[in-house]
Amino acid sequence: MTDQIAGIVFDAYGTLLDVYAVEARLEALFPAKGRALATRWRDKQIEYSRLRTMSGHYADFWEITGDALDYACEFEKAALTAAARDELMRIYERLPAHPEVPAALAALHAKGLRLAVLSNGNEAMLHKALTAAGIAPLFAHVLSVERVRKFKTAPEAYQLAPDAFGAPVQNLVFVSSNGWDAAGAAWFGYRAFWINRAQAPLERLGVAPEGIGRTMDDLVGFVAP
Ligand code: LAC
Repeated sequence: MTDQIAGIVFDAYGTLLDVYAVEARLEALFPAKGRALATRWRDKQIEYSRLRTMSGHYADFWEITGDALDYACEFEKAALTAAARDELMRIYERLPAHPEVPAALAALHAKGLRLAVLSNGNEAMLHKALTAAGIAPLFAHVLSVERVRKFKTAPEAYQLAPDAFGAPVQNLVFVSSNGWDAAGAAWFGYRAFWINRAQAPLERLGVAPEGIGRTMDDLVGFVAP
């Protein structure tokens, strides 16, 4: 199968990077609220990305990540000081990779596959996080939706990878742990692979990913059995 694949395109937040790594610090700052805060923070961040895209009011992912944190804390009645906000945002800047990610990416790279990131994250965020996680050198392209000022699942965002690779979308595999992102990629024409880390149900959107796994190791088996 690898000879038909022009590249593998990865979502960043949740797929490569563990967005829930903030939960332990949230729990320490706001006992018994860590899980609720981490979940609401993430959900609100994605909601804002969609609202801003639908209404044509782009603000970059760093800004909406901070806005979502503020909203989540107020909603959960967690009094966020300026120092705690800075600290949490700094953690977000350097989210760790999920444990199996570096070796799985290295295995794909070693098979001669060309790898890319296509993320809602802005370029500065992506650069810092991928560098801190030690995986930046494995990617031929790091593509931010900042270039089109629309978040996924806008078609303009998904078009960035076919343009960067100079390849038809059907020859690219798109990998995401976000079910909605895997669905958006499949709609756009990618060969979508969903890493269902959370064992979530399939999104009811009338489209299914070509492959489903639990971790990046399953992706290695999918593209290079
Ligand atoms: C990203 C978000 C969707 O990295 O997780 O694009």
